[in-house]
Amino acid sequence: MPIELYRDPQHACLMFTDLVGADGQAVQANQFLIVDHGTGAVIDPGGNLAFNELYLGMTRHFSPHKLSYIVASHADPDIIASLDRWLTSTRAQLVISRVWERFVPHFTKVGKTEERIIGVPDLGGRLPLGDSELWLLPAHFLHAEGNFHFYDPVSRILFTGDLGVSMTSGREARTPVRDLAPHIPRMEAFHRRYMVSNKILRLWARMARTLDIAMLVPQHGAPIEGRAAISDFFDWVESLMCGIDLFDDRAYLVPQALIDPRIHRTDMA
Ligand SMILES: [Fe+2]
Ligand SMILES: [Fe+2]
Repeated sequence: MPIELYRDPQHACLMFTDLVGADGQAVQANQFLIVDHGTGAVIDPGGNLAFNELYLGMTRHFSPHKLSYIVASHADPDIIASLDRWLTSTRAQLVISRVWERFVPHFTKVGKTEERIIGVPDLGGRLPLGDSELWLLPAHFLHAEGNFHFYDPVSRILFTGDLGVSMTSGREARTPVRDLAPHIPRMEAFHRRYMVSNKILRLWARMARTLDIAMLVPQHGAPIEGRAAISDFFDWVESLMCGIDLFDDRAYLVPQALIDPRIHRTDMA
């Protein structure tokens, strides 16, 4: 069952947290449906693991032929690998960074994306949705080179893709975090490795602080809710060293370690 992050008579934001099997092979991921005055957008619909359940779940709340957009924060497999099936099953257009516009057709059969992709320039924009808008905010390098976050001015939710994610189960992802400090250990390792640099985090936080935000909602793990926790999150990312801040010549040596192919996972720190 999806969680209603927001609902009024004309506008709803739904979050699906447990569509990817809980066998531990694929990382937990959230998918989102926004509906305004009968027009809808899915945000980061995910890969093939999530498609059937999300499509079915969507039909319970909303008619798929009224889906206007498939909005993708970036082009990773857990974001948009199901693109072929969405383009087949709906008339929606894909909204994605221009950086990925000519790469995503590799997810589909030949010709499927023709006249179906809205390539978003680096500075973003405001996308009409029903009687409202979805704001496409620049979030490049957090973590992908072409990357957007999505602000819904009605619910005041900022959908942050891979920023603010925590490693949790689908069940745990249903409960918003209101106290950031105990939550940081679940976010830290991911952000240090997947986010690109502290400079980018500071630029992003400066922009995000100008918005009136009720909830930060990432693509993995639990939402971060309330003024205090959101402000603490901005403070945390502004001071976080990550990505290229932490890489130096020791990370770029010709490797000596032999990989044993019988061991499927090697942790050669
Ligand atoms: Fe990603
Ligand atoms: Fe992701």
